Amino acid sequence: MEERRATAAARANIALTKYWGNTDDALHIPANESISLTLEPLRTLTTVSFRSDLAQDRITLNGEAPPSPTAERVRRHLDLFRGLSGTSWKAGVTSQNNFPAGVGIASSAAGFAALTLACAAALQLDLPPRELSRWARRGSGSAARSIWGGYVLLHTGSDEEAVAEPLHGPDWWEVYDLIAVLSRSEKRVPSRDGHRRAATSPFHAARVAQIPEMNRRLRQALAARDLAALGEIAERDALMMHAVMMTSVPSLIYWLPATLTVVEQVRGWRQDGIAACFTIDAGPNVHVLTLPEHVPAIRAGLKANPAVQDVLVCRPGAAAKVVTEPHD
Ligand code: DP6
Repeated sequence: MEERRATAAARANIALTKYWGNTDDALHIPANESISLTLEPLRTLTTVSFRSDLAQDRITLNGEAPPSPTAERVRRHLDLFRGLSGTSWKAGVTSQNNFPAGVGIASSAAGFAALTLACAAALQLDLPPRELSRWARRGSGSAARSIWGGYVLLHTGSDEEAVAEPLHGPDWWEVYDLIAVLSRSEKRVPSRDGHRRAATSPFHAARVAQIPEMNRRLRQALAARDLAALGEIAERDALMMHAVMMTSVPSLIYWLPATLTVVEQVRGWRQDGIAACFTIDAGPNVHVLTLPEHVPAIRAGLKANPAVQDVLVCRPGAAAKVVTEPHD
């Protein structure tokens, strides 16, 4: 038996301006540019082993065989890499998250970034990061951003152009993301189906038209380390994206009543002079962005909200990387 094997780690990311809707659904070409923050410690560790003796791919996610749509997505990703390297060997994939899946904290971003890196390393493909970002995007759009650490911009354009690039490393600015977990159940409509619906909303085109100016202002806010300016953009785009979701056909409502209770808390903190803002991905959970000095008070305030099941405290994280520790 011959084997080609590698392990890689990648982190989740939170979008400050969102990727929502594609110009090409199959290739995951985003309708607009998005900017994210890579999150420590939300990590996926993935081992890929291409083997001469396997009759089919064997996929284990968090200790279990995944549901068939997820397994199919992973298999298609392995096929991409088999195509790139010219091998026909099937693979074993073992992947472990240190955070709960399906609660709107983008497990697919960390997952496909780690899978991409592990496949490339196992098959000894010497790919530059922008190529890794492109292949990660083919697995999941937001995964293109998780190849990089810190503050990251995902471009749109052609298949070659729609890759992520780093804006600032993780040490540039210590913004914390306190994730108020309001539900742990799997979301009913996965983002990939939501992206397909985006263009059915009359607000989609209006949002996409606003994004270049919003990204320009967000980049200024990041360069100036200005949380109030960042918050204005992040909140506005989260609300615009959810307005698109809610007005799609069929309508998509990811919020729970509890979502608004956290939004209200954040507005209250701001009135009290505490620097904080919120953003919400394709799920009910609220991400509260703040500065280090406010973390204890905001964490305590979120924990005191009876609707909040858990609070995950995240800070800027590093790029995806190949790791050497054994993992089975
Ligand atoms: C709301 O990257 O999860 O989190 O490419 O179909 O896997 P697929 O979608 P995905 O979409 C992310 C949607 C979002 C916003 C964002 O992360 O930019």
